[in-house]
Amino acid sequence: MPLPDGYDVITERIAVGGLTVAVTHPRSAEDLIDEDEYARDERLPYWADLWPSGRMLAEWCAGEDLAGLRVVELGAGLALPSLVALAGGAHVLATDWYPDALAFARANARDAGAGELDTMVADWSCPPPELFERGPFDLVMGADILYENRHPRQLAPLIARLAAPGGRVVITDPRRPAAGELVAEMTETGWRHARESVRFEGRPDERGSEIHRHAFVRRAG
Ligand SMILES: C[S@@+](CC[C@H](N)C(=O)[O-])C[C@H]1O[C@@H](n2cnc3c(N)ncnc32)[C@H](O)[C@@H]1O
Repeated sequence: MPLPDGYDVITERIAVGGLTVAVTHPRSAEDLIDEDEYARDERLPYWADLWPSGRMLAEWCAGEDLAGLRVVELGAGLALPSLVALAGGAHVLATDWYPDALAFARANARDAGAGELDTMVADWSCPPPELFERGPFDLVMGADILYENRHPRQLAPLIARLAAPGGRVVITDPRRPAAGELVAEMTETGWRHARESVRFEGRPDERGSEIHRHAFVRRAG
């Protein structure tokens, strides 16, 4: 599958679960910053990097039996967790607000032999009706998707609409303040929450090596 034109790319080989996945992505996210996009809705091309939280969510997916489950990834970027879930037999929809992120994700999934990754452009602030038509989902997941103040209030209602009754929500996060706000919002609106700390063994980013994995299920009754 062709990659979008005009990118200077690199390929990293990532070991996850029993797989080694070649992930091709733009060499520099910084070089992709577009001032007009930023002025419009403060959009920044973070999709172009593979974040430690994404790698830890992919690891979690590799250790779970996701076969046959309906899974959606929010803010997927290069979508390594989605790729792993797809390889594990899940029905996966990877979403992001950058179409090019999803084009890279599809190409990487195909090159890895994981199959055709289903994708949809979806902005958390105005999600398309087709996203809800594709749900509800047994698993709603996301990695490092809580880095701005606006994110918890966008994501909490969206997650609640996407998750099936009895469904799970799993979010990995490098201990950003907005993650605490999402946890507060969701526990106040009927979700049970558990948190685990996991250690990222690769090169840490500015947030360090400790990643939180947040799991939510709806409280009974
Ligand atoms: C820090 S990156 C994490 C990417 C990927 N999950 C990972 O861990 O490697 C945040 C991602 O959220 C996406 N994103 C940010 N705001 C969004 C919005 N309003 N709607 C949809 N996606 C958004 C970005 O495009 C980016 O891919």
